[in-house]
Amino acid sequence: MSDPRSALSARLDATSSPVREMLSKLGATLAFPRGIAAQSAEAAELATCIDATAGEVWRDHVPVGLPAVIGPLRLSAAETVAYAPTPGVPALRDAWRAKILTEHPRLADGPVSRPLVTQALTHALAVVAELFVDPGDPVVLPVRYWGNYDLIFGTRRGAELLRSPLTRDDALDVDGLEVTLERGFAQRDKVVLLLNFPHNPTGFVPTLDEADALVAMLARVAAPRERRLVVVCDDAYAGLVYAPDALRRSIFERADDLGPNALTIKIDAVTKELNAWGLRVGFLTYARPRAEAHAAEVLDVLENKTATAIRGTVSSVSRLSQTLVLRALESGRLEAEREEIRALMAARHAAVLRTAADPRFASSFDLHPCRGGYFVCLRLPPDVPADAVRRRLLEAHGVGVIAPTDGDLRVSFCGLEDHQIGPLFEAVDSAVRHVMAR
Ligand SMILES: Cc1ncc(COP(=O)(O)O)c(C=O)c1O
Repeated sequence: MSDPRSALSARLDATSSPVREMLSKLGATLAFPRGIAAQSAEAAELATCIDATAGEVWRDHVPVGLPAVIGPLRLSAAETVAYAPTPGVPALRDAWRAKILTEHPRLADGPVSRPLVTQALTHALAVVAELFVDPGDPVVLPVRYWGNYDLIFGTRRGAELLRSPLTRDDALDVDGLEVTLERGFAQRDKVVLLLNFPHNPTGFVPTLDEADALVAMLARVAAPRERRLVVVCDDAYAGLVYAPDALRRSIFERADDLGPNALTIKIDAVTKELNAWGLRVGFLTYARPRAEAHAAEVLDVLENKTATAIRGTVSSVSRLSQTLVLRALESGRLEAEREEIRALMAARHAAVLRTAADPRFASSFDLHPCRGGYFVCLRLPPDVPADAVRRRLLEAHGVGVIAPTDGDLRVSFCGLEDHQIGPLFEAVDSAVRHVMAR
C-alpha cells in the first residue's frame, strides 16, 4: 500500500499551485489515513453481504438507539446517535454549499469546495490554524478582535499576531491594513489575514465601496510571485447587517479578484446564523480562482487535509446536531424565520444607536461605527480604565458588560429587551462619571 501522505503530496505537487507554500509543516503532512474511517466508508458502499467494520450496535439493518436516549426525539437512531462521516453528513454539506452559492452569486460555477462540517466556528478556526500556521507566522487581525483568536492562533500555534487598525475616521482603514500586511511580508513570504464582518466586538461592516478598495489592495499586496496570502473570512455574524449601504456578502466570494497567490477560506456556522449557539455545527469552505488550472484537484487535496485534521481532533461532529441543521435547511421556512430575527436585531440596533447618541452621554462614551452583528463597542474617555467601569457597573448597578480592551466596553444588544436599553446606557454613564471622579 502506498503511503497516503506521499500520495497526497504528489497530487498537490502535480498541480504546481501556490497553495503548496501556504500549508504549515503539520498541514503539509496531513493525509486521511487508510484506517477505520476510510475502510468503513468503503465498506458502506461495497460490503453488500456483511459489513463487520462499524463500531455501532445494529439490529434489523439499522443502528440501535436506547429509548431512554432517543425516545424524546421524533427521529431515528440513524439520524441521531449513529456516527456521522468525518467530513460531515453529505446531504448537509451539499445543502450548505447551495446556501453559500445562493448568497454569493459571484461564486456560481466557480471552484468552491464542499464545506467540511466542524464543531462550530471555534473548531473550524483551530483547524485552519493547524493547516496554515507555523510558529512565528504573521497573522494579521484588527486591533480589537474576538479574544479566542489569541488561544487558537497565538497560544496553540505560536503565530505572531500583528494588530491593524480596523477603521480610521469611521471608515475601513485600508491603508493601515496594507501597512500591517507589508510588515508581515517583511518577516515571511506567507501571511494569514483574519477578516470578520460583521465584526466582534464593534459590529463594524464595510460599505460596498470600502470592500472593493479592500479587495483591490489585497490583490496588489499578494501579487508578487513569492508571496502567499491566506484570507480567512470569519463570517460568524453573516446575514446580520442593518445598514443599507453595508456589505452583505463575504469577501470569500472575491477569490477571482485576489489572484492565485491568495487562498480564500470561509468559516461559518449555525451558531449565530441560525440561532443555534449550542448545537456546535460549523463549516469550513475553500475557493480558488477560476483561472487556476488544477483548482478542483487543489480543493480535493485541501478537503482531504481538512478532514484529516477533523479526524484527529473531534473525529466527527454530532450526528443529531447535523440532522437538525439539515432538516432546518430543507424545511422551506428557514429564510423567513431568519429574516424575522434579523428584523428584531435591526430594531434593537436602531434603538441602541438612538439612545447612545443622546448628548447627555457625550462626555462619557461614544460608539465605534456599527452596522451589524450582535454588539456595539463604547469608546471611553482617555484614562478611564474599562475594567474599572465594568466592575462599577456590576457592583453598583447590577449590569454586566464586557471590557475587551483597556478603553472600550462591549455591549451585547442581541439579548436586550427594548425597555432595558435606556437604563443600561444611563448606568454606563453613571459608572463612567464615578470612575472619572475617583
Ligand atoms: C467572531 C467570532 N468568531 C468565532 C466565534 C465562535 O463561535 P462558535 O460558538 O461557533 O465556536 C465567535 C463567537 O462568539 C465570534 O464572535
